[in-house]
Amino acid sequence: MEEFTDENQAWDHNKNEKHFRDNAQQWGDRITIIKGRSLAVIDQIPDNSMDFIFHDSDHSYPFVKNEIQAYLPKLKSGGYSMGDDYNWGTVERSVKEAFGEKHRVTGKGVWYAVKD
Ligand SMILES: C[S@@+](CC[C@H](N)C(=O)[O-])C[C@H]1O[C@@H](n2cnc3c(N)ncnc32)[C@H](O)[C@@H]1O
Repeated sequence: MEEFTDENQAWDHNKNEKHFRDNAQQWGDRITIIKGRSLAVIDQIPDNSMDFIFHDSDHSYPFVKNEIQAYLPKLKSGGYSMGDDYNWGTVERSVKEAFGEKHRVTGKGVWYAVKD
């Protein structure tokens, strides 16, 4: 397996990937793993194909806002755009500007909005 390297060495990507692959096995071919930068791999994903998107990447503004908006066409109608760390000012601003009043935040700082 190709090693996933990153400038942020705080995250053990290879360990996390193994953990994810082990857990994902039970869903068989319902899951397709695409490795890469979110905006670099976006064209590999068909429009209206995703049930939910969990944004847990860059956390900066306006990157998060741009990523949310770029990925919205990939979501099915009724699908969830979501992420965590709403307590980060950069995430909160991105989510507010992307969704306005349409978003909700859970007690754990997880935010979400449902696509029309
Ligand atoms: C907060 S960590 C979360 C990692 C993983 N979701 C987890 O819970 O173990 C954010 C990770 O996203 C990666 N990342 C940052 N920007 C990214 C981008 N544009 N596309 C893909 N990954 C990115 C970083 O390298 C970092 O490892």
